[in-house]
Formats: sequence, structure tokens, C-alpha cells
Amino acid sequence: SRPKPLAGRKIIVTSGPTHEPIDPVRYIANRSSGKQGHAIAAALARLGADVRLVSGPVGIADPAGVTTLHVETANEMKDEVEKLLPADAAVFAAAVADWRSETSADEKIKKVAGEGPPALQMIENPDILSGVGHHRKRPSLVVGFAAETRDLVRNAEAKLAKKGADFIVANDVSHEGGVMGGDRNRVRIVSKAGVDEWPEMSKDEVATRLAALIAE
Ligand code: C5P
Repeated sequence: SRPKPLAGRKIIVTSGPTHEPIDPVRYIANRSSGKQGHAIAAALARLGADVRLVSGPVGIADPAGVTTLHVETANEMKDEVEKLLPADAAVFAAAVADWRSETSADEKIKKVAGEGPPALQMIENPDILSGVGHHRKRPSLVVGFAAETRDLVRNAEAKLAKKGADFIVANDVSHEGGVMGGDRNRVRIVSKAGVDEWPEMSKDEVATRLAALIAE
């Protein structure tokens, strides 16, 4: 059988979007299929890691060989991640909603003729990556993601320091590359050491290479 360089290592992975409720039938979310994060969890498990995947609502199956916890909101994701500390490494691939509605109605908000749409008061969600990156139980390796439509590398470099990550996996989601929901990805690995540009490959290949880098 293959070598298991991550045997005995506990690794937290977040994946998918979060859903922030407005009322029982409506929510705010980012676009995220969970494909890249789930593939990373599976790839780490193949290298022998004890993987704890904290997933927002996705339409794909729990990866094989991984303990998966399902959450809806950013606050729930944060609670689950913090309960999983300490860990050897953490990979934050989830597309967490930056904001949520300050209140969530208990009943469906009705459309009333002549009243116009309701005003939503938004408040900031906790930044889960940043919380763990600066935590007293910080894992020795912390990996973040950056999906940007402009100034990709500059934004990723800023995130490294601000969020306390060791490296940032940056992907450009602006062009018609079909990254969102698709099966392929083109990423750059941004760390203090510089920027490593990977060629376009499948999300599974990105996951396999990233798992190897984490094992290294
Ligand atoms: O700031 P931005 O959302 O672009 O940062 C992306 C990175 O931060 C990703 O790794 C994402 O999983 C993480 N993040 C988080 N909690 C948030 C927002 C982003 O963990 N509330």
C-alpha cells in the first residue's frame, strides 16, 4: 500500500457555503459547490490524516474516509471548528458569508401590496480563518483560500498577514473559466516565500497536490 505521511495527524477542513437566514424560507449565501474543499478533505484522508470536515449546505456526498459535520451558518461553522481544536493543521476552503441579516424572522416575511420590500440590516459574521490563525490553540499549519475577481495576488498577500495563515490558495473567479461549480481550477499558492503558479488542472488534482504540500 501507499505511504501514509499524515497518519496520526488531525486536520480540520471547512468547505461549501454558509446559509444565513432571513426567515424560514430565505437566506443569503455565497456561490460554492464544495467540490474543492471536499476533494481536499478526501486527499488528506488518502494520506492517512484524521480529517474532520465542517461543511455548509452542499449537494455533494460526504467524502470517503472523512468525518463530516454539517452546519448551516457561519456562527455554527465557527463553533464546530473551535470545538475541534487542537489540530495539527486546518484548511479553510469554505465560502463563508461575510455578512448576515441581523435578525431572522420566525415566520415567513409576507409580501404586502403597497408596502414595498423589507429593509435588511446586515451585520458582519465572524472570520473563522482569522480566529483560528490567531488562536492560542493555533494549528501549526493554517491554510486559507482567496477567491478574487481582481488584484488576486495583492489581495492574497494581504490576507496572509491579516488572517494569520501560512499560505493562501488564490483563485481568480473573474473569467469564464468555469471555476465556480466546475471541475477544474487554476490556483496560485501565496506564502511568505513567494507566489507559486500551478497550471490549470482538475479540482481533484489541485487537492492531491495541496495534500502533498501540507504533508511536506
Ligand atoms: O476575506 P475572504 O472571505 O476573501 O477570505 C477567504 C478566506 O477566509 C477563505 O479561506 C475562507 O474560508 C475564510 N473565511 C472564513 N470566515 C469568514 C470569511 C472567510 O473562515 N467569515
